[in-house]
Amino acid sequence: MSERRIALVTGANKGIGFEIAAGLGALGWSVGVGARDAGRLAVAVEKLRAAGADAFGVPLDVTDDSSVSAAAGEIEERFGVLDALVNNAGITGGRPQEPTLVDPEIIRTVVETNVIGVVRVTNAMLPLLRRSAAPRIVNVSSSVGSLARQTAPGAEMGPIAAAYSPSKSFLNAVTVQYARELSGTKILINAACPGYCATDLNGFSGHRTPEQGAATAIRLATLPDDGPTGGFFEDAGPVPW
Ligand SMILES: NC(=O)c1ccc[n+]([C@@H]2O[C@H](COP(=O)([O-])OP(=O)(O)OC[C@H]3O[C@@H](n4cnc5c(N)ncnc54)[C@H](OP(=O)(O)O)[C@@H]3O)[C@@H](O)[C@H]2O)c1
Repeated sequence: MSERRIALVTGANKGIGFEIAAGLGALGWSVGVGARDAGRLAVAVEKLRAAGADAFGVPLDVTDDSSVSAAAGEIEERFGVLDALVNNAGITGGRPQEPTLVDPEIIRTVVETNVIGVVRVTNAMLPLLRRSAAPRIVNVSSSVGSLARQTAPGAEMGPIAAAYSPSKSFLNAVTVQYARELSGTKILINAACPGYCATDLNGFSGHRTPEQGAATAIRLATLPDDGPTGGFFEDAGPVPW
């Protein structure tokens, strides 16, 4: 494909989202840097441009209807099309998250960002994605949302988290429903697990770099037409549900 391709990455001002934007930029894509804070957005766009990426800022809070529709309006006006949407923005909700201790309001907040935010942004961008020759949607999930991994005997399962982990299981389930509905279209939609990466999300405790974490999302955003849809992947291949 020789034409310029357009991507939008949510929560791209730092961490894994920033590296997804950088990676797509390095592949020659025009990358919309979605971020909710104007100052952090400007700094990230500047950094990406300094590295040679064709980056543009898209003010975007995934929990806010008017922000999301304004973002879609901006991409519509600039390009009239979107080739890849990477739903990366996410929060953990902090601690405690033991199910017996968690504040139900925290669960609501986490689901609002990690699941409903993805639906809100995806549906706002769908008209633009449908105009692409090869539309791709990537939902940045986590293997902590894998029920199979969480219940595998002896597996390393990470902290008990009644808001964050189920929000990613929910996101995976929603991804499958989108794939079913969109199966007759050119849109491929998949979930990506970045692995445990050192970012603000976990106090930089991860053992992988955000750049390593970006690789699977970049691969899924650039899938060929015969690529998978409705799947859940990490670097090593499919993740069990
Ligand atoms: N790090 C890991 O080990 C790991 C593992 C598995 C999955 N993940 C997933 O990877 C994704 C990126 O996480 P990360 O580790 O890179 O974390 P991060 O450094 O904390 O970045 C999260 C990004 O999401 C943005 N964000 C949060 N709420 C938002 C909202 N309402 N609207 C728009 N943007 C919002 C943040 O913006 P602000 O700067 O404004 O807060 C930030 O840009 C998340 O979905 C996370 O669940 C991470």
